[in-house]
Amino acid sequence: MSDPSARKLPLHVAIIMDGNGRWAARRGLPRTMGHRKGVEAVRETVRAAGELGIRYLTLYAFSSENWSRPEPEVNDLMGLLKVFIRRDLAELHRQNVRIRIIGDRWNLRSDVLPLLLEAEETTRNNTAITVCIAFNYGSRDEIARAMQSLAVDVAEGRLRPEQITPPLIASRLDTAGIPDPDLVIRTSGEERLSNFLLWQSAYSEFVFLPEYWPDFDRALLMRAIDVYRQRDRRFGNVASTSAAAASPATPSPPASLAVGS
Ligand code: FPP
Repeated sequence: MSDPSARKLPLHVAIIMDGNGRWAARRGLPRTMGHRKGVEAVRETVRAAGELGIRYLTLYAFSSENWSRPEPEVNDLMGLLKVFIRRDLAELHRQNVRIRIIGDRWNLRSDVLPLLLEAEETTRNNTAITVCIAFNYGSRDEIARAMQSLAVDVAEGRLRPEQITPPLIASRLDTAGIPDPDLVIRTSGEERLSNFLLWQSAYSEFVFLPEYWPDFDRALLMRAIDVYRQRDRRFGNVASTSAAAASPATPSPPASLAVGS
């Protein structure tokens, strides 16, 4: 018998949006057209996730490794993010969507960073769904930055090494305050994590879909959720029928040690 908690709607869905380039190549189009169509899929997915009652949606939009792509493609992706925020922010705000940005934001281009900050600030009190955009994001980089912040606290005498616990580490990650993803979806048939939410996905369910990201829509989101609902989530436990098998709560660290919201 499967765990009842797994049959519920996932609280947090995270998506590796892959296959824009191959979608375009199949049609004899430039890669940029795949990214453009990918933005339309983002819009539809945010809308569908909100309507389905998903509370957190994380989208892997630009990894810290994506800088190695040809400069025109990098510029195109930056441009698409800017246009998305400029054009869609008012509508997202109206839909009560909270935007959060995860990733290393502090060395981002001066034409991008203010827009991301504005999106976070404008929507900070919204409650329907939190959409986390992973931008200039790499999980190892995120963990390294969290470790640096803890090391500074130890060096300056605010923290003893034995006080460094998993909840304290989680509170220093970019995702502080956001529950771990229940479901991680990757499109395009690739089956790997590519430096995405390595810490946070310790107990996530993974669903790999063969479709390319520009073809993603509400029906595919529901298909992935249906697969998730069949899964037996045990979280290292053996029982699958009791509340003991439910997601392990991550206790909060003492407020004086936690950073972020
Ligand atoms: C992977 O496809 C996709 C990306 C690297 C970028 C995803 C970006 C978007 C969907 C648009 C911008 C996002 C927002 C939130 C507005 P790929 O280029 O690696 O495809 P391939 O593997 O087929 O080459």
